Amino acid sequence: MEPHLSPSNFHLTKPIRSRSFHSVSLESMAVGTRCDFLIMGAGVAGLRAALELAPHGNVLVVTKESVSESNTHYAQGGIAVAMEGDEDIELHLEDTIAAGDGLVHRPAAQILVSEGPLRVEELIDWGAHFDSKNGRLLRTREAAHSRPRILHANGDATGAEISRSLAAMAHAQSSIHFAEWTTVASLVTEDGRVIGADLLDAENRLHRLSARSVLIAAGGAGQVYSDTTNPAVATGDGIALAAFAGAELADMEFFQFHPTALSLPGVPRFLLSEALRGEGAVLRNDRGERFMERYHPNLELAPRDVVARAVAREGMGSAPGELHPVFLDMRHVIAIDLHMRFPGITAFLAQHALDLHRDLIPIRPAAHYLMGGIRTSLEGRTSLQGLYAAGEAASTGLHGANRLASNSLLEGLVFGARAAQAMLVDALPPEEPHELSAQSMLQTPPIEEIEALISRLQQAMGHFAGLLRDESLLQQGIAAQVEIQSDIDSCTRRNSKITRRLIEAKSLACVAGAILRAALARTESRGAHFRNDFPRRDDAQFLKHSIYRCNQSVAFEPL
Ligand code: SIN
Repeated sequence: MEPHLSPSNFHLTKPIRSRSFHSVSLESMAVGTRCDFLIMGAGVAGLRAALELAPHGNVLVVTKESVSESNTHYAQGGIAVAMEGDEDIELHLEDTIAAGDGLVHRPAAQILVSEGPLRVEELIDWGAHFDSKNGRLLRTREAAHSRPRILHANGDATGAEISRSLAAMAHAQSSIHFAEWTTVASLVTEDGRVIGADLLDAENRLHRLSARSVLIAAGGAGQVYSDTTNPAVATGDGIALAAFAGAELADMEFFQFHPTALSLPGVPRFLLSEALRGEGAVLRNDRGERFMERYHPNLELAPRDVVARAVAREGMGSAPGELHPVFLDMRHVIAIDLHMRFPGITAFLAQHALDLHRDLIPIRPAAHYLMGGIRTSLEGRTSLQGLYAAGEAASTGLHGANRLASNSLLEGLVFGARAAQAMLVDALPPEEPHELSAQSMLQTPPIEEIEALISRLQQAMGHFAGLLRDESLLQQGIAAQVEIQSDIDSCTRRNSKITRRLIEAKSLACVAGAILRAALARTESRGAHFRNDFPRRDDAQFLKHSIYRCNQSVAFEPL
């Protein structure tokens, strides 16, 4: 794909803005306007990959905000890992496959559970501290796990600890550089191979950088919905950039909603970890009934999609748009000091005068995790040469139609390392650099217009492609997405400028289009994808992955 801005407009003048002493200007790197390995995203997958690549060349990790601002950082409950030998590993595999509702790519799950213990031990050696007692790691249970196998850190701050320890290790490597507050504007391709990227700095200057290979580890796209547990950075940029460059996406219809996000007017949809239910929390409707008894024998620890739909149904009023409150109830759990076990959650609730020991906590599902993403092999190779993907941005088929709770941090470690290994095997030799250099002064388009477009898209997605879907809703969603996409394009043309927010708007519209079209094509219900008009799983037709291409086509391929 041709870069979308003409190289003749560019000349490199100023460095990419640095906001921490580990960040670099591109000019200050020995590599100048090229690096060996370019990584988009500083979450668990990106950082783990960077550490694997570090001994073999210059690595540039590009991230839209600071290194600590990723979906990884906000992960609460923990990291699922089977560290008790073969039987434990086999059970973890079975649970992962069962949660995925028929669509898990078994070899991917096998790799996750068998390589996971080594990756976690390595992380502990690098300085990650998981909660322990008398020298033994503590493990909790979450939904659809047959045994307690979730390690946690600082109670409910597991992602932050993993992010901290990987970042500390990365900062200690002289060959790893960070460009913080920098957005990837587009991938640069030549003869079908990805050879670099255009990077937009915090002052809206564009820099072109070449790389021997590029890894997208930029996380998910929760921001495509207005109700999400994801931070503002989760706008699916990596997935959209790959699609724009011609890479295939897979299983985009499977978006996992977390059943228990805090629901208070005007308050962010703060995640109330599944670990709360693992430690005994129950769910109640506005009549005080423990309603999960009517939905699944495993009650509150049923698969996440089952619990999320149950919460949504219990919260529906009889009139359209009418909502009844639904609650998480932990008042009966007296054997645990909940303030000690869940310090982050209890502190957030306290800011809103709520206490797990005393109060019913109002909840509602919120968009949480995209099972689909850039289609990759087990080694993180995408359908484009030179482009790799790992973590939530990627789709190996590991999660099938519904991710098992706390498998994603482990996925980032395992598949981040594997993608890096493939990059080393495939990379162009260093003596064949592509000399690219570009920079342009750009102005800011009207921010309100872009914000309004994003907000329209988010509302439309919640309404038309949420937990409960049908053909009519999805068709209306596609019509809305097409209109919003066209308004974004027209905003771009009128302003002929680019900003981070505009890139995010384009990314969200692309991801929304893929979700809607894949969801329309899958005329069955499976895992996180539920169709009111096709309420049953249809293995005869749909034991297949959906493949989405940027020309908006959807095809199905057998597992
Ligand atoms: C949670 O703590 O409930 C989130 C865990 C996950 O999404 O895997």
